[in-house]
Amino acid sequence: MPHLVLVGLMGSGKTTIGRRLARELGRAFFDTDEMVEARTGRKVREIFEHDGETSFRRLESAVLAEALDTEEPCVVAAAGGVVLDEANRIRLRSGHRVVWLRPSLDVLDRRLARRGSSTGNHRPLLDSDPVGVLRDMDRSRSTLYDEVATEVVDVEEQSVDEVVALILSENGARS
Ligand code: S3P
Repeated sequence: MPHLVLVGLMGSGKTTIGRRLARELGRAFFDTDEMVEARTGRKVREIFEHDGETSFRRLESAVLAEALDTEEPCVVAAAGGVVLDEANRIRLRSGHRVVWLRPSLDVLDRRLARRGSSTGNHRPLLDSDPVGVLRDMDRSRSTLYDEVATEVVDVEEQSVDEVVALILSENGARS
């Protein structure tokens, strides 16, 4: 079943936009971080800190597969790192609508500045030098997001409503 999947860096708005899209479309919503936490009964941060990133990535791949295997079309907010794994990328490319939410680095910087040091409890990778880390991720992951995306939405100053409307109108331009 083709699902609607949102990909992109941390802070790109996948969860907020995805939840809204699911509501508008009357579909189930899955957020892979929330799925990992529900399945393990543990926080993403705790898994990173105690078991390491590799263990987290294994869980992340399992829940992504689970979400994509659901029968009814759903909306999936896929955590920023899912594209690191080749099997995940192949899965994402298997006929789903995959929207890459692509904020400019300025937008990400502004969002980080607004949130101050609490960049999100489930984002241990941003604990130190979040701006630098996100810049590196932008460089290293852009080709991976590009590889799986069927559409790109450049996120600048639009409101959540505007981004949701754009995706619903299927106008996200591939560039
Ligand atoms: C990560 C993104 C986070 C979370 C973890 C690692 C990443 O999810 O899975 O902190 O490597 O990009 P969000 O993209 O939902 O913030």
